[in-house]
Amino acid sequence: MDLFEAIDRRYSYRGAFTDAPVPRQDLQKIVQAGIQAPSACNAQVTSFVMVDDPTLLRQIAEIMNRTPCPTAKAMIACVADPQPVYHALSFSAEDCAAAVENILLAIAALGYATVWIDGALRTKERAERIGELLGVPAGKKVRVLLPLGVAAEPGQQREKLPFAQRAYFNHYGSTG
Ligand SMILES: Cc1cc2nc3c(=O)[nH]c(=O)nc-3n(C[C@H](O)[C@H](O)[C@H](O)COP(=O)(O)O)c2cc1C
Repeated sequence: MDLFEAIDRRYSYRGAFTDAPVPRQDLQKIVQAGIQAPSACNAQVTSFVMVDDPTLLRQIAEIMNRTPCPTAKAMIACVADPQPVYHALSFSAEDCAAAVENILLAIAALGYATVWIDGALRTKERAERIGELLGVPAGKKVRVLLPLGVAAEPGQQREKLPFAQRAYFNHYGSTG
């Protein structure tokens, strides 16, 4: 699939997934797209845990307690490491976000659906509990969770503001 088609097709999916599996080969291809994302100083401090073990999937879904987790055929836990990489600066959130976007596009390109779960991970110690389940070392954190599978229901990208309302040539707010 062409890159721009994948950008068009990507959307946040919060419905149920079908029973269609996500083969490991596809998971590896998807995560490879994340690995190839840029990172500050090329420090590559984001790592990924691909989860396809049914028991772990169920345990994570119980912790998350929200759709589409219960029917996800696989999940990708994106793990950030807040270590400084340039002077005293950490870019772990930015690095993780760049990797996640590549992953979202790869998921869309392969015909799967997902949603970027972040906020709910930061409440009720969900990130810590999932990190413990997955053996994430101390100091690193599950920053984004991506439940994925084949969408059982239709969905589409949410409406975006008109181009002219967000993008300008040469001067902020310029219409010419
Ligand atoms: C940084 C970030 C955090 C997000 N966190 C969540 C989340 O915790 N739960 C959720 O359902 N969607 C989350 N989303 C998805 C957004 O709600 C979604 O991208 C937005 O509503 C636009 O819809 P679209 O993805 O279909 O274009 C997050 C997206 C981003 C970029």
